[in-house]
Amino acid sequence: MEPREFFIEDRLERFRLNAFCNLGESGLSHFTMEEMLSLAGLTGKDLSKIPMYDAPNQGSYELRQTIANLYPGVSPEEVLVTTGTGEALYIAFQLLVKPQSKLALVWPAFQALYEIPKMLGAEILPVPYANAFAASTWEGVDADLYVLNHPHNPSGMTFSPNEWDSLLTLLHQKEKPVVFDEHYRFLPKGGGMGKTGVDPKHLFYGTGSFTKCFGVTGLRVGWLIADKDFIKRARSFKDYLTHTVNPISERIALGLLKEKDSFLPSIQKRVQNNIDHFTSVWRELPNVEFFSPPEGGLVGWLRLQPGIRSEDYADRLMERTGVFVLPGSNFEMEGFLRIGFGAKEDVFLEGLKRWKSCTDLI
Ligand SMILES: Cc1ncc(COP(=O)(O)O)c(C=O)c1O
Repeated sequence: MEPREFFIEDRLERFRLNAFCNLGESGLSHFTMEEMLSLAGLTGKDLSKIPMYDAPNQGSYELRQTIANLYPGVSPEEVLVTTGTGEALYIAFQLLVKPQSKLALVWPAFQALYEIPKMLGAEILPVPYANAFAASTWEGVDADLYVLNHPHNPSGMTFSPNEWDSLLTLLHQKEKPVVFDEHYRFLPKGGGMGKTGVDPKHLFYGTGSFTKCFGVTGLRVGWLIADKDFIKRARSFKDYLTHTVNPISERIALGLLKEKDSFLPSIQKRVQNNIDHFTSVWRELPNVEFFSPPEGGLVGWLRLQPGIRSEDYADRLMERTGVFVLPGSNFEMEGFLRIGFGAKEDVFLEGLKRWKSCTDLI
């Protein structure tokens, strides 16, 4: 049992650190250690005092309490701190997916959301993104497990408040487990904190992190939210994987979550400015056909004119301008590009200027 290659990773490895304008990644452009500590209200001296033992297996109580506070009615006992959202998803699927389980999710999708279940023998029921954000679409979808990535990567689409309420009512009636992957929850359109579907009492589990939204992906901290028994089993599974998250990452994560209200609005403003700018100029980009601005998160989905191979487009754009985007083929859907909106604004403006001027790209 082995998952297929993770399609986005090869290109990310090649270009994310040397692209002039990195629109390929789904995270905010990274902060330095110094900047991150300042956001977290910490100093180098604070870090130097951290005892370098194994952090508690489930995650420190204070960090779990702070994470639990992000969800209505969730207690620290219902939180497992993990090495990134990736580990939380991996463990959750190991415990939830059986051979021949039917797993429904919005398509296209972040590959880990279906590749690991497939490896475990699941049958995948893809729900095309164009209709997936209407609750009624899910009425006729009968699955053993639902995976709701919201805001959605790669389309940036979200459920409107009414559709969201109807979706939750519908999912309650189905009485099947749901995994809400809410990695981009800190960046809803209009600011504040995005909605959550997580409710462990009704089998509505959650995975999340702040690392992409806060520009600190290198910290590798994420979490799983579930009922206490499930968390106990998940912790035992984690004991065989990464065992614990390092105490430095945990301490910085705690500081960032506690201080988030002081810096998140400026991040949200930057992302929205980039989205607004892109929305005003996308029609001037060569060989593109349609774009709908994301309603949450950090990424959007740009449709190319028919017949263009997304990989050819992405390769030439990178070669000619240093602008790095991900081809739709990496999401197993030809004819699209995934665009990230987390770059610094001046770099983003210059990148789009170069892209626009490439009139003979194809
Ligand atoms: C929807 C989604 N879920 C999970 C992950 C994995 O996140 P992490 O880097 O925290 O492991 C990503 C990363 O891009 C993602 O986009």
